[in-house]
Amino acid sequence: MTPVPDYKVRKHFPPGPRQQPLVGNLKDIPSGGNEWDAYEALGKKCGIDVVYFNALGSHLVVLNKFEAARELLDKKGSIYSSRPRLVMINELWGWDWNLIMMPLGKAFQAYRKVVQQEFQPSVVAESHRIIIARETIAMLGRLMKTPDRLPEHLKQMAGATIMAITYGHHVTSADDEFVALAEAVREHAEKTPGSSIVDVIPLLKYLPSWFPGAQFQRDAEIMRRLSLDMRLAPYNAVKKLIDYGTAVPSIITRLIQSESPLEGVPAGEFAMNAAGVIYSGITVSALLNFALAMSLYPEVQERAQQDLDRVVGRDRLPTFEDRQELPYVSNLVKETLRWKAVSPLALLLTARCNSAMLHDESVYTSPHEFDPNRYNPTPKRPTGEPDPSRAAFGFGRRICPGRYFADDALFLAIACMLHVFKISDPSESRERAQVQWSSGLVRRVSPLVPSPFPYKIIPRFSGAQDLSRVSERCIMKATR
Ligand code: HEM
Repeated sequence: MTPVPDYKVRKHFPPGPRQQPLVGNLKDIPSGGNEWDAYEALGKKCGIDVVYFNALGSHLVVLNKFEAARELLDKKGSIYSSRPRLVMINELWGWDWNLIMMPLGKAFQAYRKVVQQEFQPSVVAESHRIIIARETIAMLGRLMKTPDRLPEHLKQMAGATIMAITYGHHVTSADDEFVALAEAVREHAEKTPGSSIVDVIPLLKYLPSWFPGAQFQRDAEIMRRLSLDMRLAPYNAVKKLIDYGTAVPSIITRLIQSESPLEGVPAGEFAMNAAGVIYSGITVSALLNFALAMSLYPEVQERAQQDLDRVVGRDRLPTFEDRQELPYVSNLVKETLRWKAVSPLALLLTARCNSAMLHDESVYTSPHEFDPNRYNPTPKRPTGEPDPSRAAFGFGRRICPGRYFADDALFLAIACMLHVFKISDPSESRERAQVQWSSGLVRRVSPLVPSPFPYKIIPRFSGAQDLSRVSERCIMKATR
């Protein structure tokens, strides 16, 4: 299958704001933070659920309603799930190795199959859960010592989990070399627009980087080097360990040691590319949103902690097996995925404005409130309000292949943090959160992160500190 040719796409695109010559709807595209609110408002103003924009020649279809997303992405996936020509990202940044950016086709199928297999529910349960648990408990220990460094501890936890699963690499410090390389790519992507004038006039990609106005070339050079280092360094390290016979089994060892599933791409290169796509900062963003919600909604936090005390007690930490008995905490995980969007609007071919879907007033009551009870059955709604996972993890052929893993990782981190800590707002005022999400960049590729907010984290009961220390020692022994 090939990417959708431009003329075909344009012919079928829905209505949208009037376009200016050359730049199209660039000025209409919301920017400056919390863009989803503006997309939502625009959809409402135009009276349509599907809005079309042309940004510097790139097509963007914003889907504001769940049904519209299902119709286009689940049922017409072969048209709307591909990617357009991405001059900046794929040709200048050199990201054509990256599954997320790939148009539908043989390479997409081969990479997607591997990621899907490695993160299917049975593999997550049998192999990844123990690593999630180890790194979650290690995060609790660090948070006990330095509670004012929550974002840093969450990043280390997420990075360490992924590095262990993908490369069999045990992260033991905040400045781990491989996590630092992946973070450097994420940080550069956060600052650099994934779209520019080269997407309109592709010939400009041949401009030399010293040419006045060719800042995009200089940024792209940095990105090319950073993303090559990010893939190459851990790959080379594992290759050496395989040669010495001391490699820990991981996704990359399995790939290196089997035949390449993609004709024309050697097994080593395939392994490096498949592994490179797995590092995701998105669970960190979701957990920061969770912490913010807990500081703003103390009654929700207390309700969850009552359940944890009843089901788990105070002599141990929560486990995956407790989830069945903790429906309120499970609903709190759902609400974390719904309350604030974390996946970038992406601006590739279709952007599910999943925030609009997840805040649709015809579906969710008081959608901007954080309320885990909304998923409980009521006489009017016997199945409760809909599970937001569907919209939060995307649709059709591009649905997030890491969703089972992400859901488990979120559950355990949330349950454990609630169990041992009290998270509060030091200013004790619900009004104060002037938090912004997102950067306003056109074609953003990194997750949406809330801007820094004040919080206070303290142990919830006197034995909490010992509990996390003892648990850490036990799990380290079990996984060594
Ligand atoms: C809270 C956590 C997460 C959320 C909300 C989330 C959400 C999403 C969404 C909405 C997409 C679809 C993007 C599109 O339509 O183009 C996606 C794609 C993807 N996600 Fe996740 N994700 C999460 C965590 C993860 C994790 C932990 C991994 C790593 C295993 C992962 C791996 C991927 C990959 C590889 C894709 C690209 C799939 C493709 O293009 O075919 N995600 N994710």
